[in-house]
Amino acid sequence: MKVFRWAVRAGPWQPTEAEWTKAASLIQPEEKERIGKFVFKKDAKSSMLGRLLIRKFLVQETGCLNSDLLVDRDKHGKPVYPADLSVMFNVSHQGDFAVLAGASGCLPGHQLGVDVMKLEYTGGRDLNEFFRIMTRNFSPKEWTLIKRFPNENKQLKEFCRHWSLKESYVKATGTGITVNLQNLSFHTISTLDPDLIVTDTVLSSSGEKLTEWYFEESLLDAEHCVSLCRNFNVASVEKFEHLSISDLFLGLDPMNSEDTDYTLEFLSKDERP
Ligand code: COA
Ligand code: MG
Repeated sequence: MKVFRWAVRAGPWQPTEAEWTKAASLIQPEEKERIGKFVFKKDAKSSMLGRLLIRKFLVQETGCLNSDLLVDRDKHGKPVYPADLSVMFNVSHQGDFAVLAGASGCLPGHQLGVDVMKLEYTGGRDLNEFFRIMTRNFSPKEWTLIKRFPNENKQLKEFCRHWSLKESYVKATGTGITVNLQNLSFHTISTLDPDLIVTDTVLSSSGEKLTEWYFEESLLDAEHCVSLCRNFNVASVEKFEHLSISDLFLGLDPMNSEDTDYTLEFLSKDERP
């Protein structure tokens, strides 16, 4: 089984009228409508790139035309491809990136989740106050790991790393953050490093190691960590491949007619708050 790991930089993308119109024509009407409701361009762009990543992956792995692919959501909102559940994928978009992890030839019970996170804190409050509010989402052992660093910046990076690990797991299982996050305790051993893919992090729940879950952690750049979670073995782990925006459009035929009004509304929005 081959796992695909793709990343695309959403941050610098300033879509032209033609590009946004094209992108909107490639996705399902309900997704187009959902993306049209975002108040800020930044959120619309990253969600759109997530959809295009999914569609590029499904076209590649199923051989179907984009216009024939119907992506659905399960009861928790996780996107799935019901026509062939052996093709699995998950996307995440945060900070400047949108990422996809995907695999085909999966068996029933296989699960896969991914989460990207910018290593920053923009909450405004003092970091210790933020950590205090987040106390219940991390186990005492995780707080020890996070706070072992004397410097706040490193504490924040370890915090983000643990958050991303938790998200990748709850996205693999599909529950989202409805579960008790404190009960998911990650023991990190290796430090994240630009040249490394870290695979020795272990998840415990209620004090028991969940050895059937594997985590691949890496840095997409100096400011973004990504965690991929799966419950199946693979022959090799690889870094995320960086795709360009134009790579995403390649090979996708439209499923909607072009809608200039939709694009004009998008172009009138502010980039971010
Ligand atoms: N399981 C797996 N994947 C899901 C999902 C689920 N239940 N529900 C949605 N997704 C997919 C979708 O493709 C979604 O993208 P879309 O909304 O554009 O379709 C994508 O995951 C979103 O993932 P990500 O970009 O990593 O967002 P997130 O980390 O904010 O949210 C959730 C992931 C929705 C599964 C959930 O865990 C959540 O609500 N998180 C809140 C995040 C938060 O509070 N962060 C605070 C950080 S300190
Ligand atoms: Mg996330």
